[in-house]
Amino acid sequence: MSEQELPYDFQVVSPARPVASIAEDAQKGLFDRPRSLPPKYFYDDRGSRLFDQICDTKEYYPTRTEAALLQRYAQGIIDLVRPCHILEFGSGTSRKTRYLLDASHGLQEPVCYWPFDICSTLLHDVAMDLLHEYPGLGVRAQCGDFTAGIDHLPQPPDRCLYLFLGGTIGNFDHQQARGFLSEVSAHMQPGDALLLGADRVKDHLVLHDAYNDAEGLTAAFNLNVLSVLNEELGADFEPDQFDHRAQYNAGQQQIEMHLIARSEQSVYFSHLDQTLQMRANEGILTEISRKFRPEDLQQLLQEAGLRQEAHFQPDNGWFSLVLARKAAAGH
Ligand code: AVJ
Repeated sequence: MSEQELPYDFQVVSPARPVASIAEDAQKGLFDRPRSLPPKYFYDDRGSRLFDQICDTKEYYPTRTEAALLQRYAQGIIDLVRPCHILEFGSGTSRKTRYLLDASHGLQEPVCYWPFDICSTLLHDVAMDLLHEYPGLGVRAQCGDFTAGIDHLPQPPDRCLYLFLGGTIGNFDHQQARGFLSEVSAHMQPGDALLLGADRVKDHLVLHDAYNDAEGLTAAFNLNVLSVLNEELGADFEPDQFDHRAQYNAGQQQIEMHLIARSEQSVYFSHLDQTLQMRANEGILTEISRKFRPEDLQQLLQEAGLRQEAHFQPDNGWFSLVLARKAAAGH
């Protein structure tokens, strides 16, 4: 089959709000204290590959725990929702989505899959693979930044199962998480459902080790963001002058990942014509990864106008998959 004949469509979703450039984010985040960077800059080609490798370490349990949950409950979820469309925010390689596509096989009509991702090449390649592997599947690829709002994302015409997997919701602070889920809720029609994957509060050592793997892959992933800044902004960070630090903040229920200067640093950004001065032991917050209790998730969904319908978890309670529906108007 040629590409033209496939039930395939690729659309660019324009941002509903202005998106800050990497120059603006660096300007705002690095030159004032506390210093921070948005975690989205981790994911250049090398960073995405490193993240995949992290998922294979014995310490990093979230991905395989969520995959096992999907494998086990996909059929139940599909039977409950009976979707015509499956729309996934941050679809990436769509690896775990395949459990849901497999489970959709028995539906009366073949489903249409709407992967939504920022990376156009990955989106296209994954779509081609899925089209060839799942005869009858329709794919409507949506390319855009879902943190820039979803007003310009088309609304699937029939019942839709929305997916937000991987625990990515944990990279948002509470306000951002509520804001994003409210937008999803506003986009949903009655009968639609959202499947949300979220990491759980657990033994602090397990959490700590998941972000401090022995092979040093998480360290390399964290440090890689400095190479991204060097590349994108003509900066001259020396990544080997920084240490990876990831700590669990129990009060905030979140992993906090930093890059710590081993010695005094003077970093010139040629695209900004500015020099960043850092003292020895000064840090840059590069990511928060929030951990939830079941009641936190229920409340977060409720604040966004969603109602929890089912909760799937493994015996050890290390990860949650929550299925939610739009709360009826007035409730
Ligand atoms: C992709 C956001 C789920 O927060 O655990 C992995 C990213 N950071 N190791 C997470 C990540 C360090 C990951 N998420």
